[in-house]
Amino acid sequence: MAVIRSVIRGVGAHLPKRVITNADMTKIVDTSDDWIVERTGIRERHIAEEGERTSDLGVAAAKQALVRAGVDPVDIDLVICATATPDRTFPATAVTIQRALGVTKGAAFDVQAVCSGFVYALTIADNFLKSGQFKRAVVIGAETFSRILDWSDRATCVLFGDGAGAVVLEAQPQHGTREDRGILSTCIRSDGRFEELLYVDGGPGSTKTVGHLRMNGREVFRHAVQKIAGVIEETLVTTGYAADEIDLYVPHQANKRILAGVAKKLGVEPERIVVTLDRHGNTSAASVPLALNQAFEQHRLKEGNLVLMEAMGGGLTWGAVLARW
Ligand code: UT7
Repeated sequence: MAVIRSVIRGVGAHLPKRVITNADMTKIVDTSDDWIVERTGIRERHIAEEGERTSDLGVAAAKQALVRAGVDPVDIDLVICATATPDRTFPATAVTIQRALGVTKGAAFDVQAVCSGFVYALTIADNFLKSGQFKRAVVIGAETFSRILDWSDRATCVLFGDGAGAVVLEAQPQHGTREDRGILSTCIRSDGRFEELLYVDGGPGSTKTVGHLRMNGREVFRHAVQKIAGVIEETLVTTGYAADEIDLYVPHQANKRILAGVAKKLGVEPERIVVTLDRHGNTSAASVPLALNQAFEQHRLKEGNLVLMEAMGGGLTWGAVLARW
């Protein structure tokens, strides 16, 4: 039976030029390269310059994805930006990106699911494309977390960085089988009972300030391993694939120990997991498309490959998307 699937036609990414290494972090807070590398795997992060906005990073990533997809921006009718660090409280950063790309039709809006934002945004775009409402989408994850960090809190400021990644999706007719190209399965979840584990202590509707990120790292860690493994297992059951049939795992890049914990639970060899957090730390909604972009640039993504993207973040929110490249 013929069905419409959202096929990933292109991927792109952008990191700000300025790099802050772990050695640089020791001049800001009481920490060490050894602690950061051993507990997280992070070696450096990219930080946006003064005046370099989330939309600037998102536009650069989206442009690269469009060029690689061979798609003209005038043919895009949906722009979704996943971000927890919008340029302004409103309008959506997605409309700023839409304008800069020269997209003039369809709809543009932001998605706020923190580190799971890109997985949420892909899921939303996939549903719009499958329903026939839109034909081609740019889905972006873009963040300037450096602006919401408490740079005196060593437990959080060493973990995060700025960046953006993007994909171009196109609705294409497929056969309705497991061999189809495109997004095969999406699963998003949230549980607000855990909102105090990872949050920003400000906002326009409460303090009228931007606020700073606060996290109970140990508890978030515990949930991350359980919930990510759970949603991957659910995706495998739904689609009938075994863990070792997935060619590439493209996870949210928060902590190498979380990646190892999930891999151990599911019996996945480390070679199948894309790890980029050493280079840019946790970039929240940007981290999955940044990792996807690195896999593409390193020729680790071949047509027909099964790719599993997953994330967990503030909310708590979490989810997974399975796609055939
Ligand atoms: O993207 C959204 C999802 N986010 C995550 O998934 C993050 C999940 N959590 C984590 O990745 C880890 O919990 C952290 C990396 C945040 C922390 O690692 P941990 O092994 O859970 O450390 P901890 O919080 O239990 O702290 C251990 C010790 C503490 O000292 P004491 O109390 O044992 O003396 C901290 O004060 O490490 C200390 N510490 C540091 N020491 C040096 C905390 N941060 C630092 C630091 N440098 N930057």
